[in-house]
Amino acid sequence: MATIAQPSNSNTPATSTQILVVDDEPDLRTLYELTLLREGYQVQTAGNLAEAWEQLKQRQFDAVITDMRLPDGLGLEILSYLSTAQRSERCIVMTAYGSAENAVESLKAGAFDYLTKPVDLKQFRAVVASAIQGPAGYKVARALAKTVGSAGGPHASALNRLVGESEPMLAVKARIAKVARSMAPVLVRGESGTGKELVAQAIHACSHRASGPFVAVNCGAIPENLLEAEFFGAKKGSYTGAMQDREGYFQAARHGTLFLDEIGDLPLAMQSKLLRAIQERSIRAIGSTVEDTVDVRIVSATHKDLSADVQAGRFRQDLYYRLNVIEIAVPPLRHRRGDLPALCTTLLDKIARDSGLSAPALSQHLLSQLEAHPLRGNVRELENLLHRALALNDGSELDMEVDQTPESAETAATIVKADTASASALPTHSLPPEQRAKLVIPDDLQAYLDTQEKAILTQVLQETQFNRTAAAARLKLSLRQIRYRIASLNITMPASEVSEDGLIDESVEDGH
Ligand SMILES: Nc1ncnc2c1ncn2[C@@H]1O[C@H](COP(=O)(O)OP(=O)(O)OP(=O)(O)O)[C@@H](O)[C@H]1O
Ligand SMILES: [Mg+2]
Repeated sequence: MATIAQPSNSNTPATSTQILVVDDEPDLRTLYELTLLREGYQVQTAGNLAEAWEQLKQRQFDAVITDMRLPDGLGLEILSYLSTAQRSERCIVMTAYGSAENAVESLKAGAFDYLTKPVDLKQFRAVVASAIQGPAGYKVARALAKTVGSAGGPHASALNRLVGESEPMLAVKARIAKVARSMAPVLVRGESGTGKELVAQAIHACSHRASGPFVAVNCGAIPENLLEAEFFGAKKGSYTGAMQDREGYFQAARHGTLFLDEIGDLPLAMQSKLLRAIQERSIRAIGSTVEDTVDVRIVSATHKDLSADVQAGRFRQDLYYRLNVIEIAVPPLRHRRGDLPALCTTLLDKIARDSGLSAPALSQHLLSQLEAHPLRGNVRELENLLHRALALNDGSELDMEVDQTPESAETAATIVKADTASASALPTHSLPPEQRAKLVIPDDLQAYLDTQEKAILTQVLQETQFNRTAAAARLKLSLRQIRYRIASLNITMPASEVSEDGLIDESVEDGH
């Protein structure tokens, strides 16, 4: 039967943290109990599910630690009870060594974290400490999970940065709030420009790690020979040029979130090292003899079909399995067109603010064109289009003819025809002379000029199918000048123009 134990060490500060330990092995139960008491927690124990129900009925705990296999059922039942009853306890599941499926299954069922048996007591203490930290953040996440989607829910700035109240977006937000509660690795999928990084930031911000660091890494942008040092750090003198000890991303993200963007671009050799770090929860810096425990939550993202990469042998299946415990699919913009008006407003405000201008209202004519546009580049493409429209704008309302791609040309033509006011205004690529003559006096000249320059360059690049040599010639710039401007103005080039090392492939372009 359960026992109510008092802290055995009178020097330990009394805390009101209550922990329930469920394990059928009396010796192990005592070991966990003593370990926790020494940390100053209050501990209750149960030897089976029936005793656990009794305890859970009587009081609210801060954390529940349960064995997976119990004489009268599975530890997973505790998880499902906590979730159905909307209880706030965080649950840690202990699984037998080598049963990765059980660990993954428990994370999917909402466990905060898992421990592999035989339990390493140092890790045990660290995971418990992590589970009881920041109950406020946790409760916020839980409250969000309940209220997301219902009007008048609590103001959640992290989630509100993700604009969109369409059904698919609300589902994404609810999922973010839910997964934020656990340590489970999350894989964010979605086409380019859908907002995967914003989703990763929201997971971090809703979690109890919010006060810790959010470290974003573009896995495709790191030279292969530097990957290990970049991820795990390096000791002074461990390789030529290592003048002092260097921290890796794992150390930098300690107690926070490590966001592995473009995870599909990670070379196979590095995939094994990453898998090991995740499984062992420890890393070893290059040149170091010591293993370092790391408390890091992993969120990764990809625009690729990773399962196809697994099939093709380009991505390790075991790593895929580890990273993809929970998946969040960010829907393309064309599947949530209802979000367009709100997105336009937010993006326009942001662009105008950055350019030192005030945001004009969006014309119905422009909105209709955007609604018919395929927007294959998703929110990022929308942002670029609005950037251009704002740079060309001279009226009180924001308006422009949007160049529709062939597959949407039919729809676009219908819209232009239906709008009598603009029926004669055929899509145009160049600045109308009357707009060119209008003088805008901005608050911030440099920001305004940057906006203009970006809009002009983007337009000319689109006209030249992103051939920079042709675009440079058209604008009487050198290739070096246009390359510099593309980079400094952060102009997005299509992925096909980028070679595997992440650099723009000149040979592709010169072949045009
Ligand atoms: N729902 C949204 N609300 C507001 N802004 C958004 C939203 N989704 C994306 N954005 C904005 O669109 C741009 C692209 O978003 P983000 O970088 O997160 O996309 P991504 O999916 O990571 O793209 P990529 O695959 O190209 O890396 C950013 O400027 C981001 O702030
Ligand atoms: Mg991204």
